[in-house]
Amino acid sequence: MEAVNAELSRIHVLDPAVAGRIAAGEVIERPASIVKELIENALDAGATAIAIEIRNGGLDLVRVSDDGAGIVREDVATAFERFATSKLATVEDLSAIRTLGFRGEALAAIAAVSRVEMVTRARSEVEGTRIVVQEGRSVLSPAASPVGCSVTVTELFANAPARRKFLKSPLREAELCRATVVRYALAYPRIAFRLRVDDRETLVAPPASLIERTAICLGRDIVNEMIPVTWEAADLKVHGLISRPSLGRSDRQAQFFYVNGRPIRSGLLAVALERPYAGRLPLGRHPVGIVFIEISPTAVDVNVHPTKAEVRFMHERSAYWAVAQAVEGALHPFPRQETVDTLRWPFADFATAPYVPLREVGTGYNALSELRAVGQLHQSYILAQSPEGLTIIDPHAAHEAILFERLLRGEPGQEISPPYLLLLTTSEAEAVGDHLDVFRELGIEVEPFGPETLVVRSLPAPLMHVPLADLVTALAQEIQRHSAAQAGDLRETLAMRAACLAAIKAGDILSFDQMQKLVDEIAAYWSPGVCPHGRPAFITLSMDELDRRFLRR
Ligand SMILES: Nc1ncnc2c1ncn2[C@@H]1O[C@H](COP(=O)(O)OP(=O)(O)OP(=O)(O)O)[C@@H](O)[C@H]1O
Ligand SMILES: [Mg+2]
Repeated sequence: MEAVNAELSRIHVLDPAVAGRIAAGEVIERPASIVKELIENALDAGATAIAIEIRNGGLDLVRVSDDGAGIVREDVATAFERFATSKLATVEDLSAIRTLGFRGEALAAIAAVSRVEMVTRARSEVEGTRIVVQEGRSVLSPAASPVGCSVTVTELFANAPARRKFLKSPLREAELCRATVVRYALAYPRIAFRLRVDDRETLVAPPASLIERTAICLGRDIVNEMIPVTWEAADLKVHGLISRPSLGRSDRQAQFFYVNGRPIRSGLLAVALERPYAGRLPLGRHPVGIVFIEISPTAVDVNVHPTKAEVRFMHERSAYWAVAQAVEGALHPFPRQETVDTLRWPFADFATAPYVPLREVGTGYNALSELRAVGQLHQSYILAQSPEGLTIIDPHAAHEAILFERLLRGEPGQEISPPYLLLLTTSEAEAVGDHLDVFRELGIEVEPFGPETLVVRSLPAPLMHVPLADLVTALAQEIQRHSAAQAGDLRETLAMRAACLAAIKAGDILSFDQMQKLVDEIAAYWSPGVCPHGRPAFITLSMDELDRRFLRR
């Protein structure tokens, strides 16, 4: 027994086959993950037609064939190695990714948990290549092949029976595969998609417009209820289709978001889409939406999620704001039925604020750290001297963004003693009780204490001054509104709500100390080189600009 333990405690690099299986665990969870990765590869290869075939929910077979560029024989085996990619070479490339793939991991991950056969030919070749990869071994041979690539995956999880157990029924897995195909088919209407499930053609989508493609993927009855959205600023474009308020669904399954052609999941974008429907769509109903956001690739980080399902915007609030604006504009002809509860929206002031293109907000981190507050204008804007000239700060927006950032980063809770007992409605107390972990991540230690009572034991520093009952009630109500959201989204939503409550209010008169503190916090909490998200929290007038206005030059 001792000998075994001694062995275990030695540090060693994992056998690649083992390491591959661990990493693959993140990327390849189920047949639909394979469908996703192979479709992405086909799209990256410039395919104009992609055919997908699955059998027995993908457990027996997943095949994706494309007419893209193909792979030359010398490169075929390399494509299956980890971190083997043709799509980027340098660290700088990582900050401006235009392809769907970039990690060089997908084929290796798929091959680690199945048997993969690829038949491919590049246009420059007269003869194609077949490769069979299984359990770390590969066999290469010549083969007849059209230009393009066809990948067949069988024996999925044969070497990982535990993983097979986590799969749902073949019927459900087939549905998930179809949903994956639809997600890409909607984003690339000009590319033909075909899906066969157990020898039945379940989706045949020839090249088409977005509307026609939507009709094929989601149904004609839905398309008749859709209206276009478009919205454009210098550095951000939003377009797509959204449902009229006459069409509401009980879930968010038919909401699709894409950033530069990459499907993403985002609770906050869902909020941005849904918020303009408030008062137009009954509560609990969700709109249908296919929303494309185009933004410079340098302004999004796509390398933040193991399956590339989420992205991080450099100017997060700007993207949300743009989507909300686009939707609001499209819904304009549909009157609101009831007054809108503006509190529902964490950034209630967005809708009335003018959009200012991001690039006009030029002040970076370093300049900010040398800000000196000089006064407050009309109980509102803070004026500060900065190295370039004059910086004008919106205290509420700036403070809210700082608090949001702090809460999301995770602030330690500070003990409240004695603990605070709080009486809520039963449903509010339940809402909080169901998400104690999310509260904990935000630094709020709270426990149920009977059906209608909660005991609050600690709060993070930024929330200490907010009346506790208001805070917890507001968060409980926020949870009830977002009951469908997942934990990650919920944490952001709650952080936003809390930040909004705790932030300096518009109209608050600030002392010099408070102003300087805020200005210092801007420097401390915003990521270097990145200006605040979205609606600018500050703008800078340079000395040059002032000199020009005073005709000094
Ligand atoms: N269908 C295809 N047609 C042409 N080349 C392909 C195809 N599939 C894969 N390749 C080539 O094989 C390489 C490895 O593919 P793989 O999916 O493993 O990595 P990737 O797409 O570069 O990155 P990611 O892991 O993010 O998907 C690709 O970079 C590409 O050069
Ligand atoms: Mg790939």
